[in-house]
Amino acid sequence: MHNRRLAAALAVVASAALAGSLALVRPADAASSLKQSAEAKSKYFGTALVQSNLSNSSLVGVAAAQFDMMTPGNEMKWDTTEPSNGSFNFGPGDNLVSFAQSHSMRVRGHNLVWHSQLPGWVSSLPTSQVQAAMETHITTEATHYKGEVYSWDVVNEPFNEDGSLRQDAFYNAMGTGYIADAIRTAHAADPNAKLYLNDYNIEGENAKSNAMYSLVQSLISQGVPIGGVGLESHFILGQVPSSMLANMQRFAALGVDVAVTELDDRIQLPASSANLQQQATDYSTVVSDCLAVTRCVGVSQWGVGDADSWIPGTFSGYGAATMYDQNYQPKPAYTAALNALGGTVSSSSSTPTTPTSSSSSSGGGGAACKVTDAVNAWNTGLTENITVSNTGSSAVNGWSLVFTLASGQTITSTWNATISPTSGQVTAKNMSYNAAIAPGGSVSFGFQANHTGNTAAPSAFSLNGQPCSNG
Ligand code: G3I
Repeated sequence: MHNRRLAAALAVVASAALAGSLALVRPADAASSLKQSAEAKSKYFGTALVQSNLSNSSLVGVAAAQFDMMTPGNEMKWDTTEPSNGSFNFGPGDNLVSFAQSHSMRVRGHNLVWHSQLPGWVSSLPTSQVQAAMETHITTEATHYKGEVYSWDVVNEPFNEDGSLRQDAFYNAMGTGYIADAIRTAHAADPNAKLYLNDYNIEGENAKSNAMYSLVQSLISQGVPIGGVGLESHFILGQVPSSMLANMQRFAALGVDVAVTELDDRIQLPASSANLQQQATDYSTVVSDCLAVTRCVGVSQWGVGDADSWIPGTFSGYGAATMYDQNYQPKPAYTAALNALGGTVSSSSSTPTTPTSSSSSSGGGGAACKVTDAVNAWNTGLTENITVSNTGSSAVNGWSLVFTLASGQTITSTWNATISPTSGQVTAKNMSYNAAIAPGGSVSFGFQANHTGNTAAPSAFSLNGQPCSNG
């Protein structure tokens, strides 16, 4: 735990330094990732990750380059963390926290009390024992992650659509007061975490958000340390509520933060290009609404790409709900979100929508590899996401990719590979988990670098001594 806390502290220092440098960004040098653009506006841009995502190198490349906040999709929920009474399991959550810290992401803890993904033993308790079980659960989990989470969704989805409270195990045992008790218990365990109530269909002004508003007012009047309200924002294409901005403003005016916590925008499949343009408009609206409210601290998408989204599994016939397609290529919604944040896709290098291929011609023996290199640059820095495909007929087991950085470029961090040295001709080598590239398969890795004006991608790559072809 201590190491994770130290790493977290360093990440905070690093992100503060980054935010400081971004304050100097001139309009002509607008940032070209979601997180850099958000940080320049004192916001964050987050994503949800589940453990299995960490072995997907394409996903990890995008997550590391674009997002500075991470919400565990399932791993901090009660059914994982306390599957039987008094028996705690923080391994999956710890893995995600470590990942976040090593990629300078902060963490939204999700969640401590929820009617769903609640193990049967809790619902089966006599009502007289539920409060103690809830307090023990909150205290143990929030203490375990003390100092490592930016915020907690303390109570998740407490309301029915009509604004009444759900009659779940907690309400049935304690009545409305369970919410104040849960927040106070979490505060005692981790006084520095922002403590949220999080729900869906409270983005616009309606019966459910009115009930949340009244609840927050009541909690504040009782001195309960409520820190924020999470608007999940699981939208249907073209249906971002027009009252979202006003709704966020009224919560902010109560003196709490607001956050867009689980953004996605589902489309009836197949998605047309007009649908994708409407989705871009929707994302732009949401980001702009958050920017317009000082106490809106950031926006998080639920999952990295369409391949990771919960939508197709829950809403039959719907999907394409995120900013990245099935292959982690950015969609119009990505550009729209970035532009709304004041960022632009770099013009001095390849754009996210059409990654530039940098390659040499194939060698005498025929290239068995193909490299695609997407560069996103801002005034003093850049990221590159490099995908190496095995175009040969035999598997690659262990790889070294040699390429030369443009003059003035110095690597500062790397993901999914080791790279040395940090400038000039460099060699990227596989990690243990992405050493094999099957025929037809690919791996992605990336790095962040400083530059002194030349943001060009390397002009040639060779894999295990073989030149690679154009991507
Ligand atoms: O772990 C079991 C596995 O053992 C089993 O083989 C498998 C078979 O279906 O199910 C696995 O559990 C699944 C779990 O995710 C972990 O993968 C559940 O079926 C599945 O229902 C569950 O879905 C999660 C859902 O919350 C549950 O309500 C989604 O991944 C997760 O993205 C989703 O997230 C919620 C937020 O927490 C709150 N807001 C809404 C959001 C979307 O539903």
